[in-house]
Amino acid sequence: MAGADQYLIERADVSRLKSDELLRLARVLRIPLAKRAIQRSWLLDEVMLEFNRRGTGKGPVAKLQSPAIQIQGLEKRFGSKVAVRNLDLNVDPGEIVGIVGPNGAGKTTTLRILTGIIKPTLGTVKVNGYNMSSEAIKAKRCIGYIPEKPTCYPSLTVREYIMFMARIYNVPTEIALIRMREFVDMFQLDELLDTYIGTLSKGNLQRVLLVGIFVRPPPYVLAFDEPIYGLDPRGAWNLKALMKKLRNDGSAILMSTHMLGVASELCSRFVIMNEGEVVGRGTLEALLEYNKDARNLEEVFLGLTGGIPR
Ligand SMILES: Nc1ncnc2c1ncn2[C@@H]1O[C@H](COP(=O)(O)OP(=O)(O)O)[C@@H](O)[C@H]1O
Ligand SMILES: [Mg+2]
Repeated sequence: MAGADQYLIERADVSRLKSDELLRLARVLRIPLAKRAIQRSWLLDEVMLEFNRRGTGKGPVAKLQSPAIQIQGLEKRFGSKVAVRNLDLNVDPGEIVGIVGPNGAGKTTTLRILTGIIKPTLGTVKVNGYNMSSEAIKAKRCIGYIPEKPTCYPSLTVREYIMFMARIYNVPTEIALIRMREFVDMFQLDELLDTYIGTLSKGNLQRVLLVGIFVRPPPYVLAFDEPIYGLDPRGAWNLKALMKKLRNDGSAILMSTHMLGVASELCSRFVIMNEGEVVGRGTLEALLEYNKDARNLEEVFLGLTGGIPR
C-alpha cells in the first residue's frame, strides 16, 4: 500500500496549488486556521513544517520487480476465433516495448488481458510479480492503462475523477492534491478541472486518464493502447517526451501501435503480431539482421505481415 513516505514533497510543488487547494490541503493536514485573513506564505510554511514533521519524502523509493510485466503462453479465443496465440513477452523496468501489428492482430486483446479487463483462455500474466488471476487486486494496483478508445465515468468532473482514482489507489489526500496540481499544470487541464468527463475530446480525456495514473507514486507499470494516435502534434510530442522520462526513471511500458515512426522512436524492443501470432520480435537491429530485404522497421513489418509491395 502506498504510504505518504513514498513521496518527495518540495515547497515548489506545494506553492503551485491554487488558494482553495492550499486551504483544503491545510485542513487535511489539520493545520489550525485562525479566523483572520491567512497569508499564503505563512500557510505554505505551515504545510512544509507539517510534511517535514511527518517525514514525508524520507522513505525509500519503490522499485519494480524485474520483469515488471510477464506474459507466458497467452492464448485468447472468442468462440472459434483465436485473437492471440501462444504469446510470451516480458518488459523490464526502464524499457518501452512495442507491440506492432495491423488491425486485428491481437494488440488490444493482449493489453486488455494484461490489465485484467478480460481473462485469457490459456496462459499467465504477472504484473510486478503479482498473478493477474490469483492476485488480481494487487496486480491491478500496479498497472496503469490507457485504452485505445478512452471512456470513463462521463458524469464525474475531471477533479472528481482524479481524486476518486487517488482514493482507489490509497494515495493520501494531501499527496493527491499536490500531484493532481503538478500534472494538471503539465497537461494544461486547469480550465477543464470542473467540466464533465463526458464532454472531453480524445486528447484531453487521455490526459485526464494519465493524471489519474500519476496521482500514484512512480515507478509505474503502464499499458498504453495506441497512445499517440489521434493526438495533435503538440500533444503527441508532449506524451512521447513524458514516456521517455518515465522510462528513464524506471517505469516499465508496454505500448501497442501501428504507427511505426512512433514505435521506432520510443521502443527498445518490438513484438510484431499478425492475426494473433507473433511473427517477429527483438530490437530493430536484430529484426533487420533476420529480415535482409528490409531497410527499416516499416519494411520489416510489411515483410512479416503480408509482404513488401514492390
Ligand atoms: N470481444 C470480442 N469478441 C469477438 N472477437 C473479438 C473481440 N475482441 C476482439 N476480437 C477479435 O480479435 C481479433 C483481435 O482484435 P484486437 O485485439 O482488437 O486487434 P488489434 O488491437 O491488434 O487491432 C480481431 O479479429 C477482433 O475482431
Ligand atoms: Mg487495437
